[in-house]
Amino acid sequence: MVYFTIDKVYYYIFGGNALEKLLITGKTPLKGEVTISGAKNAAVAILPATLLINGICTIENLPNISDVKISCKILEELGAKITWNSKNEITIDTRNVCCTNAPLDMTSKFRASYYLLGALLGRCKNAQVGMPGGCNLGARPIDQHIKGFEALGANVEVGQGKITASVKKLVGNSVYMDVVSVGATINVMLASVLAEGTTTIDNAAKEPHIVDVANFLNTMGADIRGAGTDMIKINGVKELKGNATYSVVPDQIEAGTFMLAAVASRGDIKIKNCITKHLEPITAKVIEMGGNVEEIGGDTLRVWCNKRPSKANIKTLPYPGFPTDLQPQIGVCLSIADGNSTINESIWESRFQYTEELNKMGAKITAQGKSAFFEGVKKLYGSPVCATDLRAGAALIIAGIIADGQTKISNLQYIDRGYENIEEKFRNLGAKIERINEEE
Ligand code: EPU
Repeated sequence: MVYFTIDKVYYYIFGGNALEKLLITGKTPLKGEVTISGAKNAAVAILPATLLINGICTIENLPNISDVKISCKILEELGAKITWNSKNEITIDTRNVCCTNAPLDMTSKFRASYYLLGALLGRCKNAQVGMPGGCNLGARPIDQHIKGFEALGANVEVGQGKITASVKKLVGNSVYMDVVSVGATINVMLASVLAEGTTTIDNAAKEPHIVDVANFLNTMGADIRGAGTDMIKINGVKELKGNATYSVVPDQIEAGTFMLAAVASRGDIKIKNCITKHLEPITAKVIEMGGNVEEIGGDTLRVWCNKRPSKANIKTLPYPGFPTDLQPQIGVCLSIADGNSTINESIWESRFQYTEELNKMGAKITAQGKSAFFEGVKKLYGSPVCATDLRAGAALIIAGIIADGQTKISNLQYIDRGYENIEEKFRNLGAKIERINEEE
């Protein structure tokens, strides 16, 4: 059995190594096979969800990324015992969890720490976490999470850089979400699993990772119905016993990133271990841009493109619409498309920071507010660029691969938050990409 050593984790947890850069020499068509890892946004919710279990469980297909490592570290601080069975599998024993105050410095490092609120509230009836951090995508309110907790009877206070929640007894209730929110849907689900009575969430988000978290909880003993629709019903149970193994769903966004990399680079990629149904919104746009998509067997997609991508218009929407988390990656395809395109970003107010970086590489993009206009250019040129957030970082890697010359990407801590072995996966597809230390 291989045990993952946690010695280098601090680099990830405490802010990354600013000297590390990705050096990419373009331009290469990507060809070959890539295997998709477990979904980041499912994993970062399933890990806090283990706090609701009074027992032991094993989680397989965990992506080996910094957001997962920091989540595990926080769970250990709260009293959980974690054994790494391999780099993608842990066994976690939550029987001795007693602390309800998640370390403020760690929780404020990433977004998904807000799931500790729902999970600790469910288990211990009170919780304290630092204001969640994460990528800077504009305002990221949590009013719908709070509304949900309050509907179950909790008292929630926000101030001095932290959120505290407490309750004598959680009692099921109806919660209507004013906006479709992935985080609020999952958080209210977590808080209501052990509540007395039934909770309904109306206008719930339907993303694949919501279904995955519900499946995980049901495997551990919960009674959640309707996940994946806009009405989720949670019948409170007395206890989650655990004693089960669960495998995290494949990452829809990672698979989509490679689909779009195939289009941008005029490549031919077999994307293994994906759920093709989850990729339908991306498949539709790949075909519109002139690419080809073929389903092979149950869980593999072949995506290839022999020509310059065609123009396309995109509007990001909650699932099953086109995901905001693939907006920068499709932006790279549109930057070199034949014709002019527009993207309307309807989820985040500040997700076009990457366009300035692409413009440094020769793209002609004008972004204003939640829209961007793309005047397709024939080619991009290598340049030093900076990953402004996780998905922007993935987009810049694709841009570097298709550009003439060398691209150097800084701010890798964003990319490492959400993509496992990204340079190795691209290298296996033929990309000339290496991680360098500027000091060397
Ligand atoms: N919103 C509110 N109030 C709330 C919650 C959300 O107004 O209480 C608004 C947001 O401002 C946003 C919209 O609702 O305009 C959707 O936000 P949502 O809550 O769905 O986003 P999230 O849960 O904070 C997750 C992912 C994001 C992804 C979004 C949308 C995780 C940890 N993060 O964020 O992933 O963009 O859903 O799909 O699951 C990424 O992986 O790069 C990433 C940013």
